[in-house]
Amino acid sequence: MKALNQLTGRFTESVIRMMTRICNQYHGINLAQGFPDWDVPEPIKEAAIKAIRDGVNQYAVTWGAPGLRQAIAAKARAYNRIVCDPDTQVTVTCGATEAMIATLKALINPGDEVVIFAPFYENYGPDSLLSGATPRYVTLRPPEWTFDPAELKAAFGPRTKAVVINTPHNPSGKVFTRAELELVAELCQEHRCYCVSDEIYEHILYDGARHLSPASLPGMEGLGITINSVSKTYSATGWRVGWVITPPEVTGAVRKIHDFLTVGAPAPLQEAAAMALGLGEGYYRDLAATYQRARDQLLGVLDRAGLKPYRPAGAYYIMTEVGDLLERLGCADDLELAVRLIELTGVASVPGSSFHADPALGRRQLRFCFCKRPETLDRAAEGLARLA
Ligand SMILES: Cc1ncc(COP(=O)(O)O)c(C=O)c1O
Repeated sequence: MKALNQLTGRFTESVIRMMTRICNQYHGINLAQGFPDWDVPEPIKEAAIKAIRDGVNQYAVTWGAPGLRQAIAAKARAYNRIVCDPDTQVTVTCGATEAMIATLKALINPGDEVVIFAPFYENYGPDSLLSGATPRYVTLRPPEWTFDPAELKAAFGPRTKAVVINTPHNPSGKVFTRAELELVAELCQEHRCYCVSDEIYEHILYDGARHLSPASLPGMEGLGITINSVSKTYSATGWRVGWVITPPEVTGAVRKIHDFLTVGAPAPLQEAAAMALGLGEGYYRDLAATYQRARDQLLGVLDRAGLKPYRPAGAYYIMTEVGDLLERLGCADDLELAVRLIELTGVASVPGSSFHADPALGRRQLRFCFCKRPETLDRAAEGLARLA
């Protein structure tokens, strides 16, 4: 047979989703893939059911139901300080996942470079390859996951088309500071390139951390692109409703890619998403408080098990240093260790290498998620205690 697309040979299947499948084989506790083990809030579910009953079951407008785009624009103005026109700047997609690939495909020409902070959410690697971009990585260093400004400046050049930001950050839990984002914004303006910001954990913040959208910074008009979804904020990862806010002159290209990739996101769930975006402050406060308790619980569990955790300021993941355990169990690398950990403790995690282009950089790390009920984390604690 003739060869399949060569690009698909240049990346692996998702290691995160693979760990879920292995975890299921062992009937383990899935602290690998970031989805909550509680349900979508009842009023949001009711809105979806009502939409289906009311007959909202055919294609929505390709770039998003008008009511949802208006709700997105209103929330972006109130929470993110981003002023956008729902008709010319908002595109509803099948999750943040589609928003990112559609955006990069709309932006990138052959030879273009994209700056990505590493470790990074694993999709960004294949997203860059599939869109034809050459990634330039900038390292985030623990414990605070800071970067060297000189390294960032050196990563930008005449071929830079975009920088990808993810704040709060998966997998580190870093919340980018105003000073860091101002430097990114300065470089975007100097090199006339886009800042594509994935903000799906924007409400999951701890210890008083504040979320800042790069697109809201002065001088970012025409350069800032903001991606979000209902997956994390409304505990609805299976709904596949996300969106991207673009400068008007970029929107047409994104919408064309989106149209031919998926036509549109699920129509009744868009209605329910519009309702969800209207929830009051109290909802987001409770969400952050619930996650802060889960974070503190898992930090203690990991610490007691001898896995050295870094304390996240946002999102719902904890990166750990596991070099000692790797050596003690005689594992060749983090992937082997993650599988052994499921066998020994019943707890699934994600190998650190899946967040790096160079696997060596994550070889002594594992990521655990804590979007789980206290009793689930208690069961994980019992399993992990076997390591001590
Ligand atoms: C940083 C980041 N972006 C995007 C996604 C996927 O978002 P969605 O479910 O909206 O496609 C995830 C999921 O874990 C993520 O961590």
